[in-house]
Amino acid sequence: MNDAPALHHGVRIGELELPGNLFLAPVAGYSDAAFRSVCVEQGADLCYTEMVSSEALTRDHPATKELLARAKNEKLYAVQLFGSRPETLAKAAVLLLPWKPAVIDLNCGCPVPKIVRSGAGSALMRSPETIRDIVSAMRSSLAAAGASRIPVTVKIRTGWDSESVNYLEAAHAAVEGGAAAVTLHARTRVQGYSGRADWSRIAELASAFDLPVFGSGDVFRPEDAARMLRETKCAGVMVARGAMGNPFIFREARALLGGDPIPGAGVAERASIARKHLELSTKFLGERRACVEFRKQFCSYTKGMAFGAELRYEAVRSSSLAEFGLLFDRWVAMAGGAAEASGAAGPPPGARDEFSAQGEGDFLM
Ligand SMILES: Cc1cc2nc3c(=O)[nH]c(=O)nc-3n(C[C@H](O)[C@H](O)[C@H](O)COP(=O)(O)O)c2cc1C
Repeated sequence: MNDAPALHHGVRIGELELPGNLFLAPVAGYSDAAFRSVCVEQGADLCYTEMVSSEALTRDHPATKELLARAKNEKLYAVQLFGSRPETLAKAAVLLLPWKPAVIDLNCGCPVPKIVRSGAGSALMRSPETIRDIVSAMRSSLAAAGASRIPVTVKIRTGWDSESVNYLEAAHAAVEGGAAAVTLHARTRVQGYSGRADWSRIAELASAFDLPVFGSGDVFRPEDAARMLRETKCAGVMVARGAMGNPFIFREARALLGGDPIPGAGVAERASIARKHLELSTKFLGERRACVEFRKQFCSYTKGMAFGAELRYEAVRSSSLAEFGLLFDRWVAMAGGAAEASGAAGPPPGARDEFSAQGEGDFLM
């Protein structure tokens, strides 16, 4: 029996009704307003901002406000905060209110040494009672500001290391503090982003809690999203690396989950969406900064593709819309030429990138 059509469904987080369960994960350096906009257009049901420092927010640091910028087509967005002190996170949650976040998420998974040293990110996995206190403080301050309808959620890892796997305890602590949903990136802090995410942990968490549990880790293809939903019974799926340079994964997953043919994107469409992504980015960052920031995005869009290395060589030296414009044109022209030379009817298929668990030739075009 094909149970796929039931897998894409709405999710209730506290009082919030989300239209669907395919999310762009918080990804520092990537999930900015321009990229989120493109992901929404391609079918993401909710996108998370990059993690935002609660300390910086309470000190009114201008760079922080930039991270909170919201795209026009984002009806809903989730803002992720990081920090270690309940009173600071409580203040930061209220300071977010002018941006009207649909969800405020607490980062308990960032493995970066500087963040961990400050007691934030995955350091919180070593102190579940701090997770509880932070969530509780955020809930109280939001309630005092008349915003108790905004759900506070947490994103955790399975634990600090394989000797201290404590995601159930951490999730319990978060729920005790008043969290309305929990996302599990099914790796320990020590694993970083290596090895395989252990989806059995997501399944265990989902079966242990009544509130929504979202799964994160190793969703690189629409089939992975379907498999995660089916195998773990989680309420929703977050995509991080699988969306970099590949926002199409959201519409592809939607189609697959709905039992429809997967609408793959050809080279011309990929280039056109990448161009749009850059243009949107210039609206938020100005031309030069947007172009410099876009270099890595261009690399993601073209990774694993025919002639990609040559284009990427140029991209990392490009700093203007005009220079990138020429690259987009060359990308399409080169792909067309390659298809002609090989007699192929369509654009050359390629592996997505080194993040892909699937490898060369497995990518849907
Ligand atoms: C470059 C990069 C930046 C990330 N930034 C964040 C972040 O700001 N907040 C967070 O909770 N997780 C962050 N993550 C973790 C992802 O949200 C996700 O949980 C993890 O990458 C596993 O999912 P994936 O296998 O789909 O990539 C980041 C991951 C990467 C690779």
